[in-house]
Amino acid sequence: MIEIAAQAHGFGARVQGVDLSRPLTPDALATVKDAFTRHSVIFFADQALAIEDLERLTLELGAFGEDPFIAPMDGHAHVMEVRREADEKTLVFGAAWHSDWSFQASPPAATILYGEVIPPVGGDTLFADGYRAFEALSATMQAMLAPLRAVHSARRAYGPRSAYATDARPRSMKIEVSPEAEKSIVHPLVRTHPESGRKALFVNPVYTVGIEGMEAEEASAILNFLFAHMTQDRFVYRHHWAAEMLIMWDNRCALHTAEGGYDGHRRVMRRTTLAGERPV
Ligand code: SIN
Repeated sequence: MIEIAAQAHGFGARVQGVDLSRPLTPDALATVKDAFTRHSVIFFADQALAIEDLERLTLELGAFGEDPFIAPMDGHAHVMEVRREADEKTLVFGAAWHSDWSFQASPPAATILYGEVIPPVGGDTLFADGYRAFEALSATMQAMLAPLRAVHSARRAYGPRSAYATDARPRSMKIEVSPEAEKSIVHPLVRTHPESGRKALFVNPVYTVGIEGMEAEEASAILNFLFAHMTQDRFVYRHHWAAEMLIMWDNRCALHTAEGGYDGHRRVMRRTTLAGERPV
């Protein structure tokens, strides 16, 4: 029987009693999808998964998303390896609060991350709940934010002047910076989740670069307030990894960041994304 254990402070859940190395039965799939909608971040321990299992599981849950700027694993066009070697000194991948690929017209609904090699210290992933962050704002602030449209771009992360472009230290991951990253797109600053119907803040410090119709200083004041508000401890779940653990998070209502703190140790993860819809 599948058991869903919600995390104590109300965000994220552990799923037990399911073997992800085999195709999910229709009932198991429905239970996992329902747990995902209710908890936004779900994780499964003790899952010995080959790359092909990760690909199959992703396709059972939906369609692959499109992952730009990072070369996929050889022979696995939709699987990215998040790797950092013990002696690597370069930036930790994903080490700032973000929602995956929020600069795309239809950003990925979910990301699935599998722990292949987990360091003995550090390497946690933190998740922030965009629903509760929105719900905790005053009604006046919610009403002010509701009609706004935020500008998203990959330029700070993957543009020709980004930190990845200027950091020449050896790196295991194949990051491909590109002028394509300079493009921008607007999305509602508050989005409604297509399955839960709940509203969530949909901005993040890596990819949200402005607010439509506002001067840069005006937008920065609002965005910086929101970034600090959303990432308060009361909205954050800290995930501590073990090898063979799989986690799945909802990019439509949660931010995440990789903490680092494991210099001197190897960390290897495999990652896929699930295609999403245009935010509304
Ligand atoms: C990511 O942003 O996908 C990386 C998360 C992690 O490595 O913990």
